[in-house]
Amino acid sequence: MSEQTTTPTVEGTAPDGDVLVEARGIKVHFPIKRGVIFDKTIGHVYAVDGVDLKIRRGETYGLVGESGCGKSTLGRAILKLEPPTDGSVIFDGIDIATLEGEELRRKRQDIQMVFQDPLSSLDPRQSVESLLFEGMKAHGIAKNAKEARPRLVELLEAVGLPEAALAKYPHEFSGGQRQRIGIARALSVNPKLIVADEPVSALDVSVQAQVINLLEDLQEEFGLTYLVVAHDLAVVRHISDRIGVMYLGALVEEAEADDLYAAPLHPYTRALMSAVPVPDPVIEDRREQILLTGDLPSPSNPPTGCRFHTRCPWRQETKCETERPVLRVPEIAGVNPSQRVACHWTEQIASGEIERHAVTATATEAGDLDTGPDSLMGPASISEAL
Ligand SMILES: Nc1ncnc2c1ncn2[C@@H]1O[C@H](COP(=O)(O)OP(=O)(O)O)[C@@H](O)[C@H]1O
Ligand code: SF4
Ligand SMILES: [Mg+2]
Repeated sequence: MSEQTTTPTVEGTAPDGDVLVEARGIKVHFPIKRGVIFDKTIGHVYAVDGVDLKIRRGETYGLVGESGCGKSTLGRAILKLEPPTDGSVIFDGIDIATLEGEELRRKRQDIQMVFQDPLSSLDPRQSVESLLFEGMKAHGIAKNAKEARPRLVELLEAVGLPEAALAKYPHEFSGGQRQRIGIARALSVNPKLIVADEPVSALDVSVQAQVINLLEDLQEEFGLTYLVVAHDLAVVRHISDRIGVMYLGALVEEAEADDLYAAPLHPYTRALMSAVPVPDPVIEDRREQILLTGDLPSPSNPPTGCRFHTRCPWRQETKCETERPVLRVPEIAGVNPSQRVACHWTEQIASGEIERHAVTATATEAGDLDTGPDSLMGPASISEAL
């Protein structure tokens, strides 16, 4: 679908010595099948459709976007849990696609996942001791539970749980405690990268803050690199060094977290940011409010050109519907060169030369973004809780 082509060579990583993960032109297209006998492919879900990103050692990269935009699929593609349709992932200088069997298994030790719902990712029949020991055994870190015990106690201590937790089962813990166990399990095999997919979305606001703070403490203690996937801007803002904003399978903007919040440039990011409540009532009254109209289009039939054109309040007659914009550093004075934006008209929008206009899409209620379980804002109070 996209015009981007990739050359999966490892040599290109050399100048970025501090890059731990590099995704190049990643695409994950799921076939849509019909028919019991012939299993005919009648289309594709373009879940991830050409993503390039780099995650540096020791940083937290936050990936944010509406539900269904392809965040989890991208995270899974980085682990090769979802083999990419196209593109490559270079992890620690090695092209993951070239790894199979034992080699892949060993590399996976370096990349661990923390999931949204710890209850479904932890086997209810296993004690915490067995859950934590499992990975260590599989990766040859410890031969038996006795030998592993001091390390298990250390792991629990790191995530704020007592030694007595070892003998208990997942159902005996609260949601927040279970997520701590999930994190301890990820840590048990000494990973380099943790992909945390909506790690606090299922938790109460006060507990969310505790788990986010814990993840930050552990990053420092264990020198971890994080890819944090979330639909909640408040969570991503607090934890991330850099943020990638996804829309329908592609990144529309990428920037240092502070730059993105101070001056979002892509129309979609601006709309998302404008919906985040600001505690100061004077600023709250004055600031730009952009309400997105229309629903997120289907990833099986994405709009042509710029995928955001069906909802974009700055859409232009030329280019927007016909040419897919690439992620590029805009030519705007004072903008950090690490900020990249996929919009044909970034400069003209920033200067005011192009003005916002009404979008003639299906009318949507005001506050469309801040309702429902997948709200991009999350509960307003998490920012205060953090
Ligand atoms: N295994 C799969 N088969 C078919 N479609 C899938 C599969 N996994 C995800 N999708 C679709 O891909 C799109 C992106 O999904 P996902 O990566 O889970 O988004 P997000 O994590 O941003 O909510 C969605 O439309 C989803 O329905
Ligand atoms: S390229 Fe056009 S439609 Fe897309 S974000 Fe920019 S102005 Fe809007
Ligand atoms: Mg997801």
